[in-house]
Amino acid sequence: MNKKGCFITFEGADGCGKTTQSELVQKYLEEFGRKTLWTREPGGAALGKELRKILLHYDGYVAPECEAFLFLADRAQHVETVIKPAVNNGIIVLCDRYTDSTAAYQGYGKGIDLTRINYLNDLATGKFYPDLTLVFDVDSEVAQKRVGAEKDRLESEGMEFHKKVRYGYLELAQIYPYRIKVINANNPIEKVFEDTKKVIDEFLNH
Ligand code: TYD
Repeated sequence: MNKKGCFITFEGADGCGKTTQSELVQKYLEEFGRKTLWTREPGGAALGKELRKILLHYDGYVAPECEAFLFLADRAQHVETVIKPAVNNGIIVLCDRYTDSTAAYQGYGKGIDLTRINYLNDLATGKFYPDLTLVFDVDSEVAQKRVGAEKDRLESEGMEFHKKVRYGYLELAQIYPYRIKVINANNPIEKVFEDTKKVIDEFLNH
């Protein structure tokens, strides 16, 4: 494995298991002596923790544009104060959700035009995009069962929304085939991790 810092994101619909996988990847890389930082959106930076409370738990109507801007505000702070400094220090940053979540949820899911989302993501990140993105793809019914009965604001959207998000991710993977790799997350955790490791190894050894 080479020693440069890099930026890897973990994406997928609610209940896809990406958080478990990103934590397993962190352990795996640290066993090889690599320095890693695990972080997430929303709420990866101190200020973003406040935004996270609104985004996930505000119980009134939130307009899709308002929602998008809050996620983007969180991202702008996160990338500038946490992600970029770590990558520049030779750390492998593992981030649970990033720009593709806004494309999948607020774009494909809530119908905001993708060209606009792309423009806003460029603006929020200064065009700092992941070197590698793993999309954990799982059947929407299975994912909803995994989420269980206690749902946050976005998890409480209907099945049609979750399906749009899922297909959004699959379309994004076709648009950016070099950056985004799709992993079949219907399988048991161990098998999903085997597949995840293969992608990570291939990426880090090149
Ligand atoms: P979280 O509790 O972190 O869920 P998960 O473990 O599934 O990541 O909640 C994040 C929620 O916010 C999730 O439903 C996806 C949503 N989200 C967006 O809609 N747009 C975004 O840009 C981001 C980062 C997240």
